[in-house]
Amino acid sequence: MLKVIIWLFLTTLSCGGAVVYALHQQYQEQSAEFRILYRDITVKLAQNDVILALLSNSSDPAVVQQKFPYILRWQTKPHEPPRPDINPARAGTYWINSPQGSLLIDLPALLADFVHPQKFHHFSLSWKDVPLLMQGGDGKDDWWRWEKQIASPSQPLNLAVTHHPDWRSLPWLALLFVGVFWAVVIYFYNQYQVTKRQRNIADLRAHYSELARLNAMGEMAAGMVHELNQPLTAILSYSQTAQRLIKQQQAEKAQPLLDASVIQTKRISALLLEFREKLHSDEQVLQAVSLSKVWERVVMLLGNEIERGKINVINQIPESLPSLIASPLGIEQIFHNLLNNAIQAQRQTAKPWVAVNARLTANSMVLSVTDGGPGLSEQALQQVFMPFYTTRQDGLGLGMALTETLVQRLNGSIRAENSAAGGACFTLTFPRAQQEA
Ligand SMILES: Nc1ncnc2c1ncn2[C@@H]1O[C@H](COP(=O)(O)OP(=O)(O)OP(=O)(O)O)[C@@H](O)[C@H]1O
Ligand SMILES: [Mg+2]
Repeated sequence: MLKVIIWLFLTTLSCGGAVVYALHQQYQEQSAEFRILYRDITVKLAQNDVILALLSNSSDPAVVQQKFPYILRWQTKPHEPPRPDINPARAGTYWINSPQGSLLIDLPALLADFVHPQKFHHFSLSWKDVPLLMQGGDGKDDWWRWEKQIASPSQPLNLAVTHHPDWRSLPWLALLFVGVFWAVVIYFYNQYQVTKRQRNIADLRAHYSELARLNAMGEMAAGMVHELNQPLTAILSYSQTAQRLIKQQQAEKAQPLLDASVIQTKRISALLLEFREKLHSDEQVLQAVSLSKVWERVVMLLGNEIERGKINVINQIPESLPSLIASPLGIEQIFHNLLNNAIQAQRQTAKPWVAVNARLTANSMVLSVTDGGPGLSEQALQQVFMPFYTTRQDGLGLGMALTETLVQRLNGSIRAENSAAGGACFTLTFPRAQQEA
């Protein structure tokens, strides 16, 4: 709509300008015609004075008539009295008087060889408001009027012409072109704007995807630090203990510690492999995962901490629970973070415990990890999934943020709350539709 208004405005403005210019041109041309007409009539009327002066009684009327057909009659005896100079006679004729004689002039015949009067819509010659000759229309509605007295002492006739614009000769085709021209200009300008907007959007998208990539890399780097921290600490602890045992000549006791070290090292290797794959593509390899098995593996990985904290780990995942289509390492990381937090939260708890449960509902698979610790504070309930939120001295505050990302990647959701007994309870929900697809 706006474009149509702009088009109308521009077209009206340019066409209006062109029409005004064309009318001005016409006016100038007609003014020039009027000047020529005025000059020619002046010359012609001046001839009458000369003829009048030269006429004598001996002149042959036939010869005079032949030479000057517009002189109808002449007489060498002047009118008495010889004033006024002019006596209008019948229509289109008048007597011109002088002391030498008088001439009866026929104006239509005098103007017969003039083409100019036809160029005006209305033409009139008058003497002292007495019309002598009128040609063309009445000229009342005409736009333009020119009027001037003939510069002749004997015949000061008043010449008046009127005219109106010739609408048909206006440059209509050019005006049509102006309309088309503006339509084309507006169309191309619009196309240019659309292309520019699309280019901007594309640039913006490229910019955002670059930002998202950088963001993802940053997130990944933070995740790496977090995930590698625990197995490295565990390896250090196992190795130091093994060293001590070997020094104490109890090498056989060091064997299980070294085995545990190998398992933790393999976990590091698996994590690094996953990170490397993530760098190349965002797609994760999904497969059927037994939640119970992954939970047991995580319990084994955190065996040291569980033993040290004397934690009672309760696995309530039903045997009959179907597998979850997910990334096994992702589920392992989720369980690892949840169990690790529960262990760390119960350092001061008299009878620490962690329970994992799983059940199926109509549309989803619901997992919950509950502990017997102090639970989450009001602030922790609000911010537990925010990166870098931590209440632990040596904590990074990334465990739960990472866990939420991993759950969301599986189209699931995670909720934090406190159980009736007061401990923390994390509930994870995965849609079943995706599982069966
Ligand atoms: N089971 C829980 N019981 C009580 N508080 C918890 C529990 N789990 C998490 N929290 C609270 O949420 C905070 C954030 O946990 P998150 O795992 O994200 O970070 P963190 O454990 O402090 O550090 P890290 O990045 O090393 O895991 C914890 O500092 C703690 O205050
Ligand atoms: Mg943590």
